[in-house]
Amino acid sequence: MEKLLQQLEEYKKAISAENPTNADEIESFRIKYLGTKGIVKSVMGFMKDVAVEKKKEAGQLLNDFKLLVEAKYEALKNTATTHQANASNIDISLPGNPINVGSRHPLSLIKNQIITIFQRLGFAVAEGPEIEDDWHNFGAMNLPEDHPARDMQDTFYIHQNPAWLLRTHTSSVQARVMEKQQPPIRVICPGRVYRNETISARAHCFFHQVEGLYIDENVSFADLKQTLYYFVQEMFGKDVKVRFRPSYFPFTEPSAEMDISCLICEGNGCNVCKHTGWVEILGSGMVHPKVLENFGIDSNKYTGFAFGMGVERICQLKYRVNDLRLYSQNDIRFLKQFTGVV
Ligand code: DAH
Repeated sequence: MEKLLQQLEEYKKAISAENPTNADEIESFRIKYLGTKGIVKSVMGFMKDVAVEKKKEAGQLLNDFKLLVEAKYEALKNTATTHQANASNIDISLPGNPINVGSRHPLSLIKNQIITIFQRLGFAVAEGPEIEDDWHNFGAMNLPEDHPARDMQDTFYIHQNPAWLLRTHTSSVQARVMEKQQPPIRVICPGRVYRNETISARAHCFFHQVEGLYIDENVSFADLKQTLYYFVQEMFGKDVKVRFRPSYFPFTEPSAEMDISCLICEGNGCNVCKHTGWVEILGSGMVHPKVLENFGIDSNKYTGFAFGMGVERICQLKYRVNDLRLYSQNDIRFLKQFTGVV
């Protein structure tokens, strides 16, 4: 015990004389005292020679010694950091720049929710270019040149090459899938689309769509209805009602638009539903045989349904966003309302 006390005193003196300042020397200090073959480890070896009744006291002394060495090591490191900071004129007492927690854009949130729902039904995601040619955007979808239905989808053409345009719908992706793949086909096509519209609360020169395409043997209008009904219930809850209205699209026959009961006023009538209690959310129909034949798909053997919805509209109903311009203004007061939403 005497020997131990004496030894520790000597080490303490030696330690207080050690004042390394650079990183290498400090590391040597650590190895010398705190390393696996260091002094702290070796003095612990004294324990076995200490008489039983003194063991507790000796243990305490050794532990204090270890803490002292560790404290010295920490102090040396801190001083070195301060030295370094002073040498390079860094004021380490300056508060840092806080990093703000971001959020997903509401349109991304909704797009991902739509994708997840259709993936559960076995739909794969397909993507395609935003700059398209006339054939994939219009021709292949049974919208030949001079077809009056093109008027509803006026778009922007590329100066250097007027054969290129900004796609007006993601039906162009359906075309690209049918070009490469024979049925069965079951895809959804999310993406940004463009139209030549004057910007207002209700219209914009670009927006987002998710279109879907399902082609196989014996696909019927009943499959279309059930699939879309499932989607609506998953997206908006079990209480929402749906209705189909006959419509016209050149690429489907028969065609239908689907409305859901207005979630804003619960069907009582408001601005969003134009006081009808119903809001249109998508266009749909059975794929026109001509579209199938355009891609060499045998329309006697295969049938299919397709649909297309606007992500902004779904988002408006789900999050009550009532002005399309909000989506692209990057106003932090708007965007931060979606922090934490998944
Ligand atoms: N492409 C249509 C539009 O942008 C929406 C649409 C309707 C897509 C019916 C479809 C469909 O695939 O079958 O207005």
